[in-house]
Amino acid sequence: MRVRILGSAAGGGLPQWNCGCANCAAVRAGSAYVLPRTQSSVAVRAKGQGWLLLNVSPDIRQQILACPELGPAANEARGTRIAGCVLTDAELDHTAGLLLLREGCEFGINSTPLVRSWLNRCLPVEPILNQFAVRPWTNLELNVPRESAGLRIRAFEVDRHIPKFVGDCPIENAVGSVIGLHITDPRTGGSLLYAPCVGSLSEPLRAAAAQADCVLLDGTFWTDDELMRLGIGTRTARQMGHLPVSGADGSLPWLATLPAAQRVYVHINNTNPMLNRQSVEYGAVVENGVRVGVDGDVFDL
Ligand code: MLT
Ligand code: MN
Ligand code: ZN
Repeated sequence: MRVRILGSAAGGGLPQWNCGCANCAAVRAGSAYVLPRTQSSVAVRAKGQGWLLLNVSPDIRQQILACPELGPAANEARGTRIAGCVLTDAELDHTAGLLLLREGCEFGINSTPLVRSWLNRCLPVEPILNQFAVRPWTNLELNVPRESAGLRIRAFEVDRHIPKFVGDCPIENAVGSVIGLHITDPRTGGSLLYAPCVGSLSEPLRAAAAQADCVLLDGTFWTDDELMRLGIGTRTARQMGHLPVSGADGSLPWLATLPAAQRVYVHINNTNPMLNRQSVEYGAVVENGVRVGVDGDVFDL
């Protein structure tokens, strides 16, 4: 299977339109040490099959243009090599891009029933898209593997987190709000764990990570109080559903122990100091055998 990081940034991208943090300013100034990044999405495909989009960000148009393999084949009046998409949650950076793929070319959308119902209530992409194109929606059942485009996909619960735009919902009713995807290529035996929103290192996540050849993990924030310290947010990383990278109970010490050949941070917020290749934080990640994901990264599993 080929895995391609379409966008390695969290919501807002890098630079974010209204952000003046050190990283966003550095990208605007053309720094060689902080690369621009688009919003969170990954594409995977089995040999000879179409691509599956894992989340569809508002930058999907730019991401397809940057990867012509996702566009129409030569001599096609209209066409796409996108075979379908899978959503890990309902967050806007992972779902709003669906509206930008409304111009025909049938492909299916997969999500948990909860994500589907939240979207239908608060951001009704399904009925809107149905007026433009064929987008059959399939409910993903947790821990029930299914085949799609030559790959075996298993969704499992990572956490429960309610997106801001959904409003009040009891957390005990939020089953299926945040999932991880364990994707295996039956031909090569290679497997990927994709978990861009991780609030805690739950047992199902640890079990999937121990088996994967490539782990793409939530790298949103370096510290729990990152946004508060910068004076641009009032909630901690954990309150936002993101386990920080650093600290004894952060994700990095755990990621460093995994057997996976590729361990890569994705969904990285523009404020995260590890985005600067000259920073001590970047150095600490690399020293632990972990990669700070970049748009266009490709892994063959
Ligand atoms: C998140 O990952 O925490 C959300 O995407 C935040 C947001 O952009 O609304
Ligand atoms: Mn996000
Ligand atoms: Zn910024």
